Amino acid sequence: MSEEATGLSPLDEEGIAAAVEEAKAAFAAAGSLDELKSARIAHSGDNAPISHANTLIRTLDPADKPKAGKLLGAARKEVQAALAQATARLEAEAEARMLSEERVDVTLPTRRAPKGARHPLTVLVEDVADFFVSMGWDIAEGPEVEHEWFNFDALNFGPDHPARQMQDTFYVQGIEHAGDADLTAVQGLVLRTHTSPVQSHSMLERGAPLYIACPGKVFRTDALDATHTPVFHQVEGLAVDKGLTMAHLKGTLDHFARAMFGPETKTRLRPSFFPFTEPSAEMDLWFPLKKGGPGWIEWGGCGMVNPEVLRNAGIDPEEYSGFAFGMGIERTLMLRHSIADMRDMVEGDVRFSLQFGTTGRGN
Ligand code: DAH
Repeated sequence: MSEEATGLSPLDEEGIAAAVEEAKAAFAAAGSLDELKSARIAHSGDNAPISHANTLIRTLDPADKPKAGKLLGAARKEVQAALAQATARLEAEAEARMLSEERVDVTLPTRRAPKGARHPLTVLVEDVADFFVSMGWDIAEGPEVEHEWFNFDALNFGPDHPARQMQDTFYVQGIEHAGDADLTAVQGLVLRTHTSPVQSHSMLERGAPLYIACPGKVFRTDALDATHTPVFHQVEGLAVDKGLTMAHLKGTLDHFARAMFGPETKTRLRPSFFPFTEPSAEMDLWFPLKKGGPGWIEWGGCGMVNPEVLRNAGIDPEEYSGFAFGMGIERTLMLRHSIADMRDMVEGDVRFSLQFGTTGRGN
């Protein structure tokens, strides 16, 4: 069959009116925007009877063209209006459905498991390590169960040195397996009381020049109270190179202090004593908001590496000099955030950790 045979004549008033009614009925019957789309294609698309009739106007006698044009123009307008009406109706319906189906009752109790938080000490240890890495230093590690020699002797604590009593030590009874029945007690092991033994390990392993930082756990026989904990963290720093002076030490620690406590941080070095440094100092920080009025607060110990310590680690003190420092990580966190009680940091209550807003970091 040819198109002309099935097509609607542009002058067929009744046929056109019927096509318009059919289109309007189809649009009104559409129950969804998808259905409306099919109806639109069928009744107002290029192949719809009215559109087709419209293309036939050009084949008419010129005298009939105006009538046909008017007829079809009006018909198409009516179809478009019906289409727009149906579109508006279905869009409104879709939106109403979405609003009711996707409604959320914000007052319902949550069923999600509560999110944990990274411990602020863990985050601070990472920040400290990042700081030293950013200066080009290496991160070093050492054992937590340490030989007494590394913990004390290598660091120039003599056998009866009073400084041994500065740190209350956990001694560890090690057992060596030498065959099944033959168990020998190993003497001379301790839980390291500070991170300073990592200095000697690193110098022996890597030689000089050397720039290392070592954040890690340390242990002392203290009962847990507001100002003591038997397990805590320190960060050790050690630089060994030709020509290092106290000025390098001061500059490094100032930079470190500003990274930890802000760019306005004021510091001072105060003479002190450690067997492994000579001269030795404590670094203090200025705290305008210190309880009881503005004042200096001790942050950690430092000094020029004692030549004896270099020698014990196989480094010639005539050729190299070094500086070292050790800061408490808990102490740093307490000073930074005005935490008054050590126990808050060790008890593991997530409500404490959550205050630091560290849920998103690396979880
Ligand atoms: N090891 C010392 C302590 O635990 C801290 C310390 C002081 C480390 C001076 C150092 C240093 O490297 O030079 O109290």
